[in-house]
Amino acid sequence: MSLYEWDDDYSVGVASMDSHHKNLFKILDKLHAAMKGGEAEEIIAGIINELIDYTKYHFSEEEKLMEKANFQGLPAHKREHDAFIQKMAKYKEKVDNGMAIFAVADVANAAVDWLREHIMVMDKKYKSVM
Ligand SMILES: [Fe+2]
Ligand SMILES: [Fe+2]
Repeated sequence: MSLYEWDDDYSVGVASMDSHHKNLFKILDKLHAAMKGGEAEEIIAGIINELIDYTKYHFSEEEKLMEKANFQGLPAHKREHDAFIQKMAKYKEKVDNGMAIFAVADVANAAVDWLREHIMVMDKKYKSVM
């Protein structure tokens, strides 16, 4: 299994959230494929915008579900979401300032590591209440 692929182990038991997570992996996999093809610098700006837009959408939908389910861990969870957006915004700044070459590997590694860890540890916590 590629690091950039969703796997059944990542299931959080909510179909809509699994499908969002699959889309996030797909965005990162596009970057990964471009890296292998030596084209990442050309697409990184588009990828990072897509990633930020889609994570914002996903986080807000996920937080709404947690709120509805009265999930106790929401504030801590939201802090992790916000920190991720901030981290990606820093990479976006680098890309926008013409430093795409330095941002590519950071985005690919940091985003996929964060996503896997966050789903496995934080998102799975709401599995039992939804
Ligand atoms: Fe989350
Ligand atoms: Fe999530």
